[in-house]
Amino acid sequence: MLSEQEKLDSLTRLGIELNQINDLDILMERVLTRARQFANADAGSIYICQNGFLFFSYTQNDTLHKKLPQGANLIYSTFKIPINTKSIAGYVASTGCALNIPDVYDLEATLPYRFSKQFDETAGYKTQSVLTIPLMTSSKTILGILQIINAQNASGKIVSFSAQDVRMMHHFAAVASVALERAQMTRALILRMISMAEMRDPFETGPHVNRVAGFAVEIYEQWAIRHRIDRTVIDKTRDVLRMAAMLHDVGKVGTSDLILNKPARLNADEYEVMKAHTIQGARLFMHQQSDFDEAAGIVALNHHERWDGQGYPGHIDYRSGLPLTGYMRPDGRAPGKKGTEIPLFGRIVAVADVFDALSTKRTYKEAWNEEEILSQIERGSGSHFDPELVEIFFSRYDMLRAIQKRYCEDAEHL
Ligand code: C2E
Ligand code: SIN
Ligand code: SIN
Ligand code: SIN
Ligand code: FE
Ligand code: FE
Repeated sequence: MLSEQEKLDSLTRLGIELNQINDLDILMERVLTRARQFANADAGSIYICQNGFLFFSYTQNDTLHKKLPQGANLIYSTFKIPINTKSIAGYVASTGCALNIPDVYDLEATLPYRFSKQFDETAGYKTQSVLTIPLMTSSKTILGILQIINAQNASGKIVSFSAQDVRMMHHFAAVASVALERAQMTRALILRMISMAEMRDPFETGPHVNRVAGFAVEIYEQWAIRHRIDRTVIDKTRDVLRMAAMLHDVGKVGTSDLILNKPARLNADEYEVMKAHTIQGARLFMHQQSDFDEAAGIVALNHHERWDGQGYPGHIDYRSGLPLTGYMRPDGRAPGKKGTEIPLFGRIVAVADVFDALSTKRTYKEAWNEEEILSQIERGSGSHFDPELVEIFFSRYDMLRAIQKRYCEDAEHL
């Protein structure tokens, strides 16, 4: 059993590990984009294998995307299909053989698999040529499949994928698989480190951490689009913010079990102890130089600040925990940071964290109903939260709900 100090030390070392992270979600979006570019394919998806199912995890579709308002993303569906030979994707995932199908509506009746018209029917799309390649490790473990849809010739007519496309996609899938395996292992490692170091807070589990990160990235992206941030910067920042948001409460490893798991409201003294998780989190990432460590430190330190200046820990030096020079109040405490004094990442994770905390049961409280949650967020605009971020929250509420569903407790999605 590690002491609190040893837990903190082992997490400090984790910071170095994290320098090398490539965010899985962003990586897979990129794989899809590049694969589609190679073959001039209108659409594509990546399905990831988990618990005997293929999860429809990433999707891009130029035709459908053009029908959406600017800056909007396709809402990802969470449907899953069993890994067996009855579907195209399932066939590829269970046999490890690629399939190059010129027209999915014209399959020989003797083939074991059928095209599922479900996607076309719900999306209002017409799938024709489909190339499906397994994503496999060098030891032949199938991680998922890469599927690209509707190759187009120079005049935009849908054509079959060529033999050259197939060769290219195999090469591409091999490269992608290595990256996918590594990213999955790293992400799983972070989650395992978080639970091993024992948050001990039974509700701060993988799904919670994933949801807060998913909400934060979604809110950030909309903020960044409004502020005309360059797309390459947005993509890189999403990567960094997602991991930082996953670690927002990691400083709670330094909080005693008695307080963390108290099945009742905290008293004032206990609450003071609890507040230190922000500073303890920030300390884990100091001395580190990467963008990632900086972001993780900023999020840990600032996610409980409030827009009106009534949050914590305020203008302190995270090393000593004492007020910064010039920020000492008569009672010896530091005033809270106010408005845009609070770094953007702190403001974003504040909204994401409270939304998730209210939506789920904790040892000390029940889950709230949706109406109560939304009115709390609304009331928090300009007091607890940055009003612009609350506006974005409501404008992207359907997307946030989709993220919430995707990372529900029983379908943990590493
Ligand atoms: P958490 O459970 O992740 O909650 C994060 C934030 O969501 C809270 O920050 C608060 O702003 C909001 N929140 C959560 N539950 C409620 C609620 O019932 N009502 C309202 N109005 N807001 C809520 P806060 O208060 O700074 O707490 C930070 C962390 O301290 C919490 O993280 C939790 O781990 C712990 N904590 C706070 N209050 C209690 C408590 O009464 N009992 C116990 N055992 N832990 C508590
Ligand atoms: C990307 O293609 O790298 C990102 C796509 C997205 O922003 O959803
Ligand atoms: C996004 O990346 O577009 C939103 C969140 C997620 O992928 O989980
Ligand atoms: C930032 O904090 O990085 C962006 C500026 C702002 O706070 O609005
Ligand atoms: Fe917190
Ligand atoms: Fe939290």
